[in-house]
Amino acid sequence: MDVSTSTPTLTKVPVHVAMIMDGNGRWAQKRGLPRLAGHRAGTENLRRIIRASVEFGVKYLTIYAFSTENWGRPQEEVEGLLHILEEVIDRELDELDQQGVQLRHLGHLDRLPAMLQEKIIRAVERTRDNDRLILSVAFNYGGRDEIVCAIRAMMRDSVKPEEVTPELVSRYLFTADLPDPDLIIRTSGEMRVSNFLIWQSAYSEWYVTPVLWPDFDREEYLKALIEYSHRERRFGKLTAQDDSTDCAC
Ligand code: IPE
Ligand code: IPE
Ligand code: MG
Repeated sequence: MDVSTSTPTLTKVPVHVAMIMDGNGRWAQKRGLPRLAGHRAGTENLRRIIRASVEFGVKYLTIYAFSTENWGRPQEEVEGLLHILEEVIDRELDELDQQGVQLRHLGHLDRLPAMLQEKIIRAVERTRDNDRLILSVAFNYGGRDEIVCAIRAMMRDSVKPEEVTPELVSRYLFTADLPDPDLIIRTSGEMRVSNFLIWQSAYSEWYVTPVLWPDFDREEYLKALIEYSHRERRFGKLTAQDDSTDCAC
């Protein structure tokens, strides 16, 4: 199939795609540039991926932009990443709003600079009624941290042990009103989860590509969606259609 020109007909489009945008540092290193140049190129790429998501009919796009572990990088890189997020909000918000993108934040705001916190809150507030694409930005996000916070919140709410169910836990996560991701894409080849959506990804399909994030363009995205459309999701059953369950009680 020619994936380079018009929008193809995909037999099955994931409702929710999550992306681990990895490889910015290696992209810069290959060009003899500082790592921050790679992060800037990565945010440029994001614009294409958002546009392509709308084009392909993806309803929810979640991107991993900064993990709870990324605070352990050199101060200059951390500060640069915080600054880049601020710049992206300033530069892109009008257009995202016009495109009908609803912005959400996954993670904790409290460790971020006050000005950035304010910008994130305002961006989320301003786009809350948009519904063309729900774009969740995981920034200062960690899956374990999210689960620990959910447990603490349940304890504060005096939830009884017998009331704890998978559905209830899901409602205490940052992703409370998002569907679980159908497809998780990781760029730049690492075969690991890196603390991303560890609860929500229980039955997600994975697609890992060696392509570095700044080079992961519309065509590469489309390849991932085509591969997804051929996957059979069985959810532990014998066929995708089989919804018979052996009752254990
Ligand atoms: C991903 O790119 C972006 C962030 C983690 C913020 P990296 O910075 O991890 O790039 P590599 O993995 O070093 O190439
Ligand atoms: C995952 O990438 C985090 C983000 C993309 C924001 P990392 O580069 O931080 O993950 P590891 O260190 O390879 O596991
Ligand atoms: Mg990395």
